[in-house]
Amino acid sequence: MMKTIRSPLLAIFAGSAMLLLAPAANAFDEEAAKALFKKNNCSKCHAPEKEKKGPSLKKIVKKNADEADKVAKLMKHLSSSPKVKLEDGTEEEHKMVETKDKAELQNLVEWILAQ
Ligand code: HEC
Repeated sequence: MMKTIRSPLLAIFAGSAMLLLAPAANAFDEEAAKALFKKNNCSKCHAPEKEKKGPSLKKIVKKNADEADKVAKLMKHLSSSPKVKLEDGTEEEHKMVETKDKAELQNLVEWILAQ
């Protein structure tokens, strides 16, 4: 008797728990991304919506919309110091993200691409 009542309940519980957890498993860690962004002074030049010395994150997302592998492209950008032109016309080497953890860098890029 107990068994027949409990197992459908458990099945419902497990089912809804999976629904709740499934999106989280694929998503980035927003807090970790923001912390890394801040720690590396990226916010000196980038903001989600506003233009600073560098383009807004929204603009970056738009600019890369047609790239085949955005994540890989931007991870490379953030680990190879390419020359970039600032809003004021001067050029400098782009800041590299200081991390030894590729997953951390990828998490940051995924957060940027979600802005
Ligand atoms: C001194 C200012 C400055 C700092 C600091 C800076 N950026 Fe940038 N960043 C720029 C400029 C300028 C560009 C525009 C490059 C272009 O479109 O030519 C850019 C471009 C980018 C792009 C887009 C690259 C592409 O190919 O579209 C990303 C992503 C990015 N920055 C992320 C970051 C992150 C993350 C940090 C912190 C580690 C950071 N930036 C720090 C100025 C800066």
